[in-house]
Amino acid sequence: MSNFSWEEFFRLPPEQKAPHFQRNGRPYHALIAQQFERPFLDRLCELATRTRRIAKTRGGRLFLQDLLSDKRAMLYFAQPSTRTFLSFYAACQIVGLQPAEVRDTNTSSELKGESPEDSVRTFSSYFDVIIMRHPVGGFAEKIAWMLSNTERTVPVINAGSGKDQHPTQALLDIYTLQRSFEERGGIEGKHVVFVGDLARGRTVRSLSWLLKLYPGVRQTFVAPAALQIGEDVLDSLRRAGVAFECTDDFEAAVPQADAIYMTRIQDEWDTAKESAALDTSRFKFTAAHLARLKPDAILMHPLPRRDEIAPACDADPRAMYWRQVRNGMWIRAALLLVIFDRDVEVDRYYEDLTR
Ligand code: NCD
Repeated sequence: MSNFSWEEFFRLPPEQKAPHFQRNGRPYHALIAQQFERPFLDRLCELATRTRRIAKTRGGRLFLQDLLSDKRAMLYFAQPSTRTFLSFYAACQIVGLQPAEVRDTNTSSELKGESPEDSVRTFSSYFDVIIMRHPVGGFAEKIAWMLSNTERTVPVINAGSGKDQHPTQALLDIYTLQRSFEERGGIEGKHVVFVGDLARGRTVRSLSWLLKLYPGVRQTFVAPAALQIGEDVLDSLRRAGVAFECTDDFEAAVPQADAIYMTRIQDEWDTAKESAALDTSRFKFTAAHLARLKPDAILMHPLPRRDEIAPACDADPRAMYWRQVRNGMWIRAALLLVIFDRDVEVDRYYEDLTR
């Protein structure tokens, strides 16, 4: 990475950036969905499941807490967050990483005019990993590039960057899909329907990339024309030969889906208040839709929700969004173990446990 200027590096297509985020064939940084290969996804899901099995006993929890007790993590969240922040915080605690946080840049030297780049460089002097969320797309990548030019490179994890990517949300979504379809041949061949603000929703962009790694998965994008998914995502699906469809007909999509992924309107990006004028009332999942959903389909949402899913759906066994939240904590714990190369110790403990 350090051989490039930032401008040169930023312009590279994601597939060419991805190898720079890896070391010894595994993620060193976790920045974009395109850096994850299928064997890695299978491994990470297995590791998350092993970790949660081990955590069922007090002895197991103490074992896990020792694995990264020699490391410290900085959680730098320059955008609002409840789940992702707490999920990483709890994941750090599971593996013993000591977490610190900067969540309000009004309390940091950014208020004195320090650049975010300098702030993050300061974090790298104290901490062993930086987990960050930022409103500027590509900013986490920029930090990883910048640190590669210093003597103290530390791993950077992207916990949401602009309208662009949310790779660890995509990992937990894959984990949720994999667990849900475990008894039905896995994710392969399933029909995933994305609904809502697909133009500005970063979770959908990252998950759509990862689903390409599962043969036979069909993707449908349901949104009003102004909020449809980006051409770059569609181009990559075309190149990969993935079957997809863009439509605004939510009612027709519901009974066809194996998984419905609802999202909220991302109007924090909407300076001109354009999307407030859009009629999005047809893109909501109500209790009446439950009867039209396949009996073994699942209903997902990255949360936070507004009124895209009626709370009356929450008790339905096909509603997966609260499980997604829980799965996120385990998959992030697993990711931290992989980044620091401590996953083999989990395997050893697990093998003893199941012998
Ligand atoms: C999402 C995000 O921040 O992109 N939230 C999350 O991390 N689960 C979705 C959203 O804010 O709508």
